[in-house]
Amino acid sequence: MDIWTSRAIALLEADANRSADTHLHVFPLPAEWGIDLYLKDESVHPTGSLKHRLARSLILYGLVNGHIHEGTTLVESSSGSTAVSEAYFARMLGLPFVTVVPRSTVQEKIALIEFYGGTCHFVDRAEDMSDEARRLASDCDGHYLDQFTFAERATDWRGNNNIAESVFSQLAQERHPIPRWIVVGAGTGGTSATFGRYVRYRRHETQVAVVDPEGSAFYDGWAGNTDAPAGRPSRIEGIGRPRVEPSFVPTVIDEMIRVPDAGSIAAIRMLRDRTLHWAGGSTGTNLYGAFQLIARMREAGETGSVVTLICDSGVRYAGTYYSDEWVAAQGWDLAPHRARLDAFLETGVWGE
Ligand SMILES: Cc1ncc(COP(=O)(O)O)c(C=O)c1O
Repeated sequence: MDIWTSRAIALLEADANRSADTHLHVFPLPAEWGIDLYLKDESVHPTGSLKHRLARSLILYGLVNGHIHEGTTLVESSSGSTAVSEAYFARMLGLPFVTVVPRSTVQEKIALIEFYGGTCHFVDRAEDMSDEARRLASDCDGHYLDQFTFAERATDWRGNNNIAESVFSQLAQERHPIPRWIVVGAGTGGTSATFGRYVRYRRHETQVAVVDPEGSAFYDGWAGNTDAPAGRPSRIEGIGRPRVEPSFVPTVIDEMIRVPDAGSIAAIRMLRDRTLHWAGGSTGTNLYGAFQLIARMREAGETGSVVTLICDSGVRYAGTYYSDEWVAAQGWDLAPHRARLDAFLETGVWGE
């Protein structure tokens, strides 16, 4: 192995060694329910989201496979959290980073990618992103990191401080150390694949539920609805896809829950009001699903713990999900969903 590659791997390992593990917060539920809800806060990673882990794994995967060398241009197709984190690591290794994004991408996200030294390459149609990224990489003899294909392969599902191992070790001293449910969303599908494989590998009774926003293809893919209408771009940042992506592993998912977009946004505002945690939309989708599973546990007289994620910080969405004007422009009425969430926290019943 050449010196540059060895040094590059050492730099990535040193970054992991410098980074403290992300917190596991308790969401306040009535103690008499006998059910504990935990929020794994991935927004505290240096680049602000759960994608910090994936970006490090994808680049390590490219290095150990001999696809990334000194001077290699790294290419991705993402306008979101993944591109921000990959730009951070590319700069750390002194490599150029280009990400293909839709021309409609908001300025804040472009600025964040450029802040970490990345360059945005624009396409008119979102569905052209991955082909354009593949073309760009071959034109410049670069390496296409391709999160949607390699997320499930690049992440070590056995452990190595992956997100699942971290959660189980942080629950070890809790009254219900083995969670009944783990609830996550799917963008690439990498996070749900990691949790699903890890709980099976460790032979835990824990079940994995995946929440899906409006218009996403994952639910129908998982349910085997072959005649389902084509998906459409998601309005909840980071999750939901118009097609079922290669890193989505339906066989390790025990349950899927569709969540209305207005419900996701109502849930993050409820989270902010009740805990002061500012989170992005996909965290609201997680909570909306988790509450339903907790209501089901209460109906069945079950006690136990449920874990979900704070995927990224809400600061990025001050001008969108936290703006009443922007929300109204989407045609979203948050009030009925907020009433349902608040009623659930009073009664434990998931009402209509
Ligand atoms: C904010 C946010 N939440 C959730 C996810 C879903 O994670 P995964 O890609 O591992 O399915 C993503 C993925 O991009 C994300 O950016």
